Amino acid sequence: MDIVSDTLLYEGKAKKVFATADPGVVRVAYKDDATAFNGLKRGQIQGKGAINNQMSNLLFAYLQEHGVPTHFIEQVSERETLVRKVRIIPVEVVVRNLAAGSFSKRLGVAEGTDLPQALVEFYYKNDELGDPLITDDHAVILGLAEREELEQLRSLALRIDHLLVSKFSDCGLLLVDFKVEFGRTPDGEIVLADEISPDTCRLWDSETRKKLDKDRFRQDLGDVEDAYQEVFARVKLACAQLPREGRSV
Ligand code: TMP
Repeated sequence: MDIVSDTLLYEGKAKKVFATADPGVVRVAYKDDATAFNGLKRGQIQGKGAINNQMSNLLFAYLQEHGVPTHFIEQVSERETLVRKVRIIPVEVVVRNLAAGSFSKRLGVAEGTDLPQALVEFYYKNDELGDPLITDDHAVILGLAEREELEQLRSLALRIDHLLVSKFSDCGLLLVDFKVEFGRTPDGEIVLADEISPDTCRLWDSETRKKLDKDRFRQDLGDVEDAYQEVFARVKLACAQLPREGRSV
């Protein structure tokens, strides 16, 4: 397969997407660029592209093994991966286990408060509008997704949450919340796309509750690179271990 095509199809804030010789496959290249607050804060996190690519691939492979369909095909280098070409559904799906971020701010709930059940939220993926929080009715009326598809996104998101909470717990990490995106394949299948990384998850050390994710960049907490490396090292270790016999996730 020709993976060295240089036809740039799309450049986002953290990744570039290139065509390949196979029209059903694209090559994603992760950048070290970091943005926050819808691009208002800009910077670089050295080594982030390589970490996010490899960590995301380990987690996508793990989710795939446990029945979650994903776009992941094959890692081709530290920073690059081949994935199925999909049309991204413009709905960002956020799952929260503990209060933090915009949930804490909007609803006045102290950061770190346990939620009695996992919360799934939908945001309209639209930078010009600042990715506003939407209801199912908004998504249907705006033509972003059908009602049955939203139900599918919600149940996939909860299954992903369950699997990730378990995997991160093996890493001594608390999964506070995360954002995922889904895409439609040419034959209409909905698959997990984009990435799962410290850019898109809030991850705290289970013991100390130290923040080990992009909040260190957003909030100028320092040690940003160290946090990404620490998380990647722990995930690599947890994903290299054979599943324990009889253990259900
Ligand atoms: P929030 O608390 O700012 O709404 O973020 C919820 C989760 O979504 C958090 O884990 C960070 C992630 N996230 C993204 O991946 N991209 C974004 O643009 C935003 C705003 C949040």
